[in-house]
Amino acid sequence: MTRKPNGPTDRDLTAGLDSGSTTTKAVLLDRNRKIAAFSILPTGAASRDASTMALDRALEEIGASRSHLAFVVATGYGRQIAGEADAMVTEITCHARGIHTLMEQVRTIIDIGGQDSKAIRINGQGRVQDFAMNDKCAAGTGRFLEVMSRSLGVPLEEMGTRAEHATKDVRVSSMCTVFAESEVVSLVAKGEKVEDILNGIHHAIADRVASLALRVGLVMPVAVTGGVARNSGVVRALEARLETRIAVPENPQMTGALGAAMIAWDRVEGGDG
Ligand SMILES: Nc1ncnc2c1ncn2[C@@H]1O[C@H](COP(=O)(O)OP(=O)(O)OP(=O)(O)O)[C@@H](O)[C@H]1O
Ligand SMILES: [Mg+2]
Repeated sequence: MTRKPNGPTDRDLTAGLDSGSTTTKAVLLDRNRKIAAFSILPTGAASRDASTMALDRALEEIGASRSHLAFVVATGYGRQIAGEADAMVTEITCHARGIHTLMEQVRTIIDIGGQDSKAIRINGQGRVQDFAMNDKCAAGTGRFLEVMSRSLGVPLEEMGTRAEHATKDVRVSSMCTVFAESEVVSLVAKGEKVEDILNGIHHAIADRVASLALRVGLVMPVAVTGGVARNSGVVRALEARLETRIAVPENPQMTGALGAAMIAWDRVEGGDG
C-alpha cells in the first residue's frame, strides 16, 4: 500500500510496540482502529534498536513516516528502553486489550512468550480481573521449546505437526529445563520415537501453564497468545489439560502490540485506556 505524502499535522496513525525478550513487535492502527501494518523482528542484544527497526519497518510498509504518528505506546519486557514511546503500559493490560479487540467473548488469556508465561482473566469490557505469571522458570515458556527443538533437531515451526503422529505416551517429568533436556537425550538413547517425545514435551509445558490458568479461575472462552500459540502441539495439549477448546488469533504474537496501539488511540481521544 502507498500513501499520498501527508503534512506533519496528519497524525493519523498510532503505534503499539511490544518489546519482548525474544521478539519485538510493532502494530500501526489507522483512525478507524484498523490494522494498517505490522512487523516482527528478533529482539537481539539491543532491544531499543529492535523497537526502532520494528516501528520503521511497519511505517515503510505503508509509505508512512514518524510524522504520521499521533501516539506511541510501548509494552513488554524491554518497554522501559523502547525510546520511541510516548507512554508505557504493562503487558497484562495490553494483552487484555489486544485479545478483547480481536475476540470479544474471550474471558481467559494464556500468553506464552519466550521468557515468561501468564494467565489473565478479563471481564466483558476487557478489564483485567486477575492474573498470574511465571517469569522465574524457563520450563513453562518458549525457551523450553527452543532448547528441546535444538536437542531433537526439529525446527520450532515443525514441532506441533510432528507431534500429531505420536502413538505412545512418553512423559517428560523433570521440573527444570536443564534436567528435562538430559531426560530427552536419554529418551532418544532408549529408542523412543521423536514424535512421542515431542508430544511429551508439549504436555510438560501445557501442565505448567495450565496451573497458571487454573490459579486465576479459568473462565471460558479461553484464548492463547504469544509465539508458543503457533505451536499446535502445545495448544492441543492445553485443550486436553483444561478440557476446553482454545481459540488462537491469526497472528498470536501481535496481541500485546495491538492492545498497546488501541490504548494509544484512547490517549489521543481522551479515553482512560
Ligand atoms: N513459527 C513458530 N512455531 C512454533 N513456535 C514458535 C514459532 N515462532 C515462535 N515460536 C515460539 O515463540 C517463542 C517466542 O514468543 P514471543 O515472540 O511471544 O516472545 P516474547 O514476547 O519476545 O517473550 P516474552 O513475552 O516472554 O518477553 C519462542 O521461544 C518459540 O518457542
Ligand atoms: Mg511477549
